Amino acid sequence: LDNGLMRTPPMGWLAWERYRCDIDCEHDPKNCISENLFIDMADRLAEDGWRELGYVYVNIDDCWSSKERDKQGRLQADPKRFPGGIKKLARYLHDRGLKLGIYGDMGTLTCGGYPGTPLDKIELDAQTFAEWEVDMFKYDGCYSNATEQEQGYPLMSKALNATGRPIGYSCSWPAYQGGLPPKVNYTQLGQICNLWRNYGDIQDSWDSVLNIVNWFSENQNVLIPAAGPGRWNDPDMLIVGDFGLSMEQSRSQMALWAIMAAPLFMSNDLRTISSRARSILQNKMAISINQDPLGIQGRLILKEKSNIDVFWRPLSNNASALVFFSRRTDMPYRYQTSLAKLNYTTGSYKVFDVFTEETMKLKDSTDFVVSVNPTGVVMWYVSAPAKSNLRQFYNDGKR
Ligand code: DGJ
Repeated sequence: LDNGLMRTPPMGWLAWERYRCDIDCEHDPKNCISENLFIDMADRLAEDGWRELGYVYVNIDDCWSSKERDKQGRLQADPKRFPGGIKKLARYLHDRGLKLGIYGDMGTLTCGGYPGTPLDKIELDAQTFAEWEVDMFKYDGCYSNATEQEQGYPLMSKALNATGRPIGYSCSWPAYQGGLPPKVNYTQLGQICNLWRNYGDIQDSWDSVLNIVNWFSENQNVLIPAAGPGRWNDPDMLIVGDFGLSMEQSRSQMALWAIMAAPLFMSNDLRTISSRARSILQNKMAISINQDPLGIQGRLILKEKSNIDVFWRPLSNNASALVFFSRRTDMPYRYQTSLAKLNYTTGSYKVFDVFTEETMKLKDSTDFVVSVNPTGVVMWYVSAPAKSNLRQFYNDGKR
């Protein structure tokens, strides 16, 4: 969607995967969906180095509202759990250089059973969100049918635009239509939404991550052309820092989401996250690969019999990223290849290993070995050496 927003994939935090529809603030005050949860996460984003890296959205998901609309028919936040109201929460975030996202549903009810935003409520709710100074809106699809969705998703896009407030727009539409043409029209989605969920919900497990990666790779020829500045495929939240992934698997999710140009919404507890998980999510090179201004989604270029997958993404400044991903479950695998075998043109390259932070120089024709741990990755940023360094570089090569 060309609304000037999300020219690179949006980054931030989203409540759903970790906190779901926990509304039991009496017994679980630290984890229930309430303004305190979002204030806590905002404080962490602002104070623990996240915001500076680009993680600026704090997104509310389902179960934030009251079970009934107010007397004027407007959505209202649950008064017990959000006593300050959404507008005040938005102010709190804006004061800290953060942005607020909110959630609604195209049907009569949200998936969690709260009031939905069906066709006749679209304009009113868009205006309410703008009045609250919300910065992003996720439009879910439970309890709506294909015909309603076909009208509702474009209509909401218009209504948000008509408010005059820049509001990033996340559409769950394709996920409810199987994610593939002919049912899903990716050209149209790119015109009306900034991002869209293509596929099922992520869960806190490696199985779930693998399942998502498989679907996105199998359908990459449909998905890659759909993505670009202002319009992104969304494989769902990052679960790094939760319970289901090992450190290897956490690096894999980060690397694969980065190379897929995926939105980076963490759903974890930033108050208690381990320093190891934090350093993966705060990896500067992985983030800068994800945020590359060209906005070209990477692709799976090789599936080896050895169960090593190679992903490649073209980046600005003639650079590129590579991910060597092991689907093995035995031991570190020594994968031997060369840049020439990975379709690189003749020349000399500089390689930066995203997670070990080592650099090396490599000719396209030189065979190299990467050791890839089970369910893990090796991720490279590959650049051509700067022109001024070329002489030095080639001399080095001769010695
Ligand atoms: C389905 C969506 O795909 C999830 O991300 C989440 O928003 C839930 N609905 C909320 O009920």
